Amino acid sequence: MKIWLVACSKGGVGKTTLAVNLAAAKAAAGDQVTLVDADPQGSTTRWSERRAALGSVIPVLDGHNRTQVRRLPAGAGTAIVDTPAGVGERELEPFLDVANAVLVPMQPSAFDIEASARFLDALAVHPRVRRGALPVALVVNRSKPQTQASQQAVEMLRGWNFPVVAQLRDSQAYTVLTGLGRSLFDYHSAQVRSHQDDWQPLFHWLRKQG
Ligand SMILES: Nc1ncnc2c1ncn2[C@@H]1O[C@H](COP(=O)(O)OP(=O)(O)O)[C@@H](O)[C@H]1O
Ligand SMILES: [Mg+2]
Repeated sequence: MKIWLVACSKGGVGKTTLAVNLAAAKAAAGDQVTLVDADPQGSTTRWSERRAALGSVIPVLDGHNRTQVRRLPAGAGTAIVDTPAGVGERELEPFLDVANAVLVPMQPSAFDIEASARFLDALAVHPRVRRGALPVALVVNRSKPQTQASQQAVEMLRGWNFPVVAQLRDSQAYTVLTGLGRSLFDYHSAQVRSHQDDWQPLFHWLRKQG
């Protein structure tokens, strides 16, 4: 069983979008996956409920009791934990203790990156991260690759010793599809496929972590 933690101290950066699309991608590949919703806002839980109403079930567990993550049911497969904004490394400790990888979505703006700098610094000195036992990856979300701002942001992120493993483009498709309990990985049109391509380096990185 694997535990992937999706976390960033900043709100609205795409934690839930990343968590649910990742879960749907795994499910589409035939893998067992469970979402763990540690955010009192419950967006992941509602997404999962909408999805279940469409007949496509991805189980979701309540992650508010953080120690629960140590007692995931047998057969949970990969657990993807969605966390709230405004939490620091201390609140995330129970997850950081057991996670196999951490994914940090970041919007490509100087303000967003500066606001998350303390969070990234704290992650960098976490004992498991320092030991190399807990890999951390940055995912640029709402990227506008052609713009200088996006490119500068990626440069800024290189200041941390974490790899930038994907740049997911800014697209209404994410908002529309998650609002329906869907994901990018439920469709196969040429446009959606080009969006899916953005995720391939992230999948590759996750596979490499074993
Ligand atoms: N790549 C993207 N392109 C466009 N809109 C996005 C993208 N990722 C997220 N969003 C939108 O941004 C908002 C915040 O995303 P969300 O996943 O809820 O962030 P968080 O969980 O970090 O608060 C939502 O309205 C979501 O639909
Ligand atoms: Mg969220």
